[in-house]
Amino acid sequence: MPASALMNVMVAAVRKAGRSLARDFGEVEQLQVSIKGPANFVSAADHKAEDILFAELSRARHGYGFLMEERGLVEGPDKSHRWIVDPLDGTTNFLHGVPHFAISIGLERDGEMVAGVIYNPATNDLFTAEKGKGAFVNDRRLRVANRRALADCLVVTGIPHRGRPGHKRFLAECEAAMRETAGVRRLGSAALDLAWVAAGRFDAYWEHSIQAWDIAAGILMVREAGGIVTDLEGGTTMLDNGNILAANGAIQKHMIALLKSA
Ligand code: IPD
Ligand code: CA
Ligand code: CA
Repeated sequence: MPASALMNVMVAAVRKAGRSLARDFGEVEQLQVSIKGPANFVSAADHKAEDILFAELSRARHGYGFLMEERGLVEGPDKSHRWIVDPLDGTTNFLHGVPHFAISIGLERDGEMVAGVIYNPATNDLFTAEKGKGAFVNDRRLRVANRRALADCLVVTGIPHRGRPGHKRFLAECEAAMRETAGVRRLGSAALDLAWVAAGRFDAYWEHSIQAWDIAAGILMVREAGGIVTDLEGGTTMLDNGNILAANGAIQKHMIALLKSA
């Protein structure tokens, strides 16, 4: 399918910011051995990528608003459009030299997600989706998996770490998932977790208290690949409270029941 003008804008922005992140990722390996470690360097890399995305997207679409991880809310004169951006999702992976991280851009129009791009510059995997036009990875169409029994399903989640609440609840949910599924994974990038559900690699993804910029693009990606995205009650408050479940249609209800049983 020929790329739309909007997709061209989003892809150009992530490719440019991706080149900057990829260069900095190359440096990170060298810094692992230094006493201070790469933390400040990575924070600078994150901000640099966000600056590039902000400049590129502002230039291409005058007046759209932004919700960005580092800048927060930036209102624009155009009240119906808003970019929701995480310049570096998977920061801990990046910091440790693990090549699993991504830039995530979602576009919201009148409160509805209409376009999303998730790009991992370390692997060059480019995930794109537009409302009503399907989801793709590097031009190959994405479909969620069709597994129907939890016992066959590979599921992915986010584990709360130091400084985040919900450790006990997570352990109970994880135990339930361990009991019922073929395997549980934690890869460290919510945006890529969703993209990989869209790609049928994972059957489901869930997480608590996640931010809008982590999931905005991924929500559309999964839906356009034929999957279902809800909060953990089966409702639609994911972007408000950050509690999210993405799955193929056959197992979505089973996943909700499983997490509730925890
Ligand atoms: C994090 C990642 C991670 C998720 C965390 C997020 P960041 O984003 O998406 O997978 O479990 O909740 O904060 O900090 O790397 O942009
Ligand atoms: Ca993030
Ligand atoms: Ca981030």
